[in-house]
Amino acid sequence: MKNDWWKQSVVYQIYPKSFLDSNHDGIGDLKGIIQKLDYIKLLGVDVIWLCPVYESPQVDNGYDISDYYQISKLYGSMDDMDTLIKESKARGIKIMVDLVVNHTSDQHPWFIESRKSKDNPYRDYYIWSDQPNDLTSNFGGSAWSYDEKTKQYYLHFYSEQQPDLNWENPDMRRAIYKMMNFWIEKGIGGFRMDVIDLIGKEPDKKIKENGPKLHDYLKEMNEYTFGPANLITVGETWGATPEIGHLYTDAGRKELNMVFQFEHMNLDKQPGKHRWDLKKLDLIDLKDVLSKWQDSFSEDGWNSLFWNNHDLPRIVSRWGNDREYRELSAKMLATLLHGMKGTPFIYQGEELGMTNTNFESIDDYPDIETQNMYKDRLATGFSKEEIMQSIHMKARDNARTPMQWNSSENAGFSTIQPWMKVNTNYRKVNVEQSLVDPDSVFFHYQKLIALRKEKDILIKGRYELVDHDNTQVYAYKRIMDDQELLIVCNFYETPADLHYSEGTKEEDIGILISNYPDSPRALDHLLLRPYEAVVYEFNKR
Ligand code: NOJ
Repeated sequence: MKNDWWKQSVVYQIYPKSFLDSNHDGIGDLKGIIQKLDYIKLLGVDVIWLCPVYESPQVDNGYDISDYYQISKLYGSMDDMDTLIKESKARGIKIMVDLVVNHTSDQHPWFIESRKSKDNPYRDYYIWSDQPNDLTSNFGGSAWSYDEKTKQYYLHFYSEQQPDLNWENPDMRRAIYKMMNFWIEKGIGGFRMDVIDLIGKEPDKKIKENGPKLHDYLKEMNEYTFGPANLITVGETWGATPEIGHLYTDAGRKELNMVFQFEHMNLDKQPGKHRWDLKKLDLIDLKDVLSKWQDSFSEDGWNSLFWNNHDLPRIVSRWGNDREYRELSAKMLATLLHGMKGTPFIYQGEELGMTNTNFESIDDYPDIETQNMYKDRLATGFSKEEIMQSIHMKARDNARTPMQWNSSENAGFSTIQPWMKVNTNYRKVNVEQSLVDPDSVFFHYQKLIALRKEKDILIKGRYELVDHDNTQVYAYKRIMDDQELLIVCNFYETPADLHYSEGTKEEDIGILISNYPDSPRALDHLLLRPYEAVVYEFNKR
């Protein structure tokens, strides 16, 4: 296997709680995933990113781990996990697990010990202080909680039940590496590293992301765990710039393969404000951000490509049109992303064009982040309507509704009422319906993935933006030796022009994929229909 096999791969993300419930308790599980491996294989992906399935009190849906070595009973057993790894492997698919090591659950034995006394051997596995400063938690309020027993404060950048680990402690680091090697020996294919940019924190200096020792820790982790194993590694790094991205991903530095950067995901947020404070989207901003990342990683380092995950609202409801142009715009967005250079990630349901929710009651949004925000904002004078509007646009639960398998009750996800409400559009948007329609969003994704395997230019080709100032069309080229592709995407429901005259004759222009059956080839004056997206290939004679 090539060292950089992950450059050719496409990853499918599974949020287990919402994928498929096989034991009728309303919660998705590992056996449910195993049942659907052939479906995932049909899409053509190479890697599954599995969100946390470890023992956990589920305060943050498994991102609060109380035992890294056990599978939560909610999801099944270690035998099920072994079967999942084995059955995936039989289909040529690797399992990338979630590595949550910025924090644990407060129910983790390390923290239970740590809070017992100031001289407990585990005290220093976490961060304690006599004097809290004004650092805040990403879930609202202070990042410090007082612990009565030893009369000190502990740090938590997420909920009170997610105390932050102290990466300065070498014993703690060794314990983490041991745990990672346990999973590597089990045969997993890689790690997605939760908020990894926080592990170098220096709270007394108020340093949260990108602390001075972050990259030393990653180098050490690489050396002692996944480095020699040729795995796929992706770091979640909300605060990354391209310069920082290179520190993580330049091959010679021996840290990670790629990171998730979120600059393109923050374009509908008012600068300096919270992500709930919405701003109108502007296509030129998107071009600037994506082009910056494409250009910056044309030589060394590598990009991840994604529109969705379990923390982000559905892309078709954000940059697309989730009403009359749902399918066309979902295909357009897929084409734009999969044409770029990097490793594409698909989040469950994205391949169906699943949309945001519009539930009326806050009770239908169980996520701790949303619940906290709702209370905070009500207390500070926002109206319920304003808050619900932001929730419909931005809440993480938009992505966490159960996977829509068919049009039967509960969308075929479960035989009983699921842990979270199903999106009301499941009769129209579901897997069963997608698989009988050769024109579905699913088959568009399947074709895009297949194209990556056929066309080396999609992996290696240089990116070049075309017609920057066009406010409606995002167009770019991929160039490799004497080969060239042109990707054009109309982001709106009104027709749009693109002037692109290279004098190539129409008969020398091939269409690799399009979301209309009859896209035009007259490139000197291209008129694109609503959300039309085409990948052109130039046949050199
Ligand atoms: C990022 C994860 O993706 C998110 O779901 C979680 O709440 C936080 N990290 C804390 O682990």
